[in-house]
Amino acid sequence: MLVNEENRKRIIVALDFATEKEVLRLLDRLDPDNCRVKIGKELFTSCGPTLVKKVGKRGFEIFLDLKFHDIPNTVAGAVRAAALELGVWMLNVHASGGKAMLEAAAGALAGADCRRPHIIGVTVLTSLNDRDLSQLGVQGGSREQVVRLARLCLESHLGGVVCSAGEVAALRKELPREFLLVTPGIRRPGDARGDQKRVMGPAEAVAAGADYLVVGRPITRAEDPQAALSEFVSAVSGNPPNPY
Ligand code: C5P
Repeated sequence: MLVNEENRKRIIVALDFATEKEVLRLLDRLDPDNCRVKIGKELFTSCGPTLVKKVGKRGFEIFLDLKFHDIPNTVAGAVRAAALELGVWMLNVHASGGKAMLEAAAGALAGADCRRPHIIGVTVLTSLNDRDLSQLGVQGGSREQVVRLARLCLESHLGGVVCSAGEVAALRKELPREFLLVTPGIRRPGDARGDQKRVMGPAEAVAAGADYLVVGRPITRAEDPQAALSEFVSAVSGNPPNPY
């Protein structure tokens, strides 16, 4: 369960850019007291740990979205590097890496003298449909597999999972309240959907049980990103946005 002061920072802004210049220009217009940010594979591959540190120095807490998936020893090393070298607030690993890998990730910082990031699992990529899963040897469909993998994450001592807005309510029923649900695919009624097929409003996602919402283009491509962020923050805090 998220404590009250966390409510202000439930929005995670996806920094889906290829250059440092674009990132820093956006961050100049956002307040680290009102959001967190997500750094994914494109930005990390182009700009590396140097930019992650720069973003951290500006006061932003970082979700490092690199979806680690490898043998347990390698994933544990990557988790340690993300925590000790980069000081990230959250990171993720692929649940399909198996129990030993998930436990290695969860236990990687045992005894370490550092702030512990939330380590969350990726269950089934939303780009995969039931036919894709069947080709991979997974029968029973994506719903069943998402719940199965989320349970595996819980048993392996991870802190939560990333899930689509459509999965939040079902997962919330299956999992303890403190298990974090991090949800992309969030749009206000007038927002362009882009390539997101199934979307949910910010207030609805939180009401369904999401803890953190990942929002990209509705904020990063807005004319006034800070105003757009404020609207999302108001929506998840249960307050209507100020119309003036
Ligand atoms: O711009 P938009 O709000 O669609 O960005 C959503 C962010 O969440 C992107 O960084 C995207 O890669 C990520 N994401 C997603 N769907 C998933 C997992 C991650 O949209 N299932």
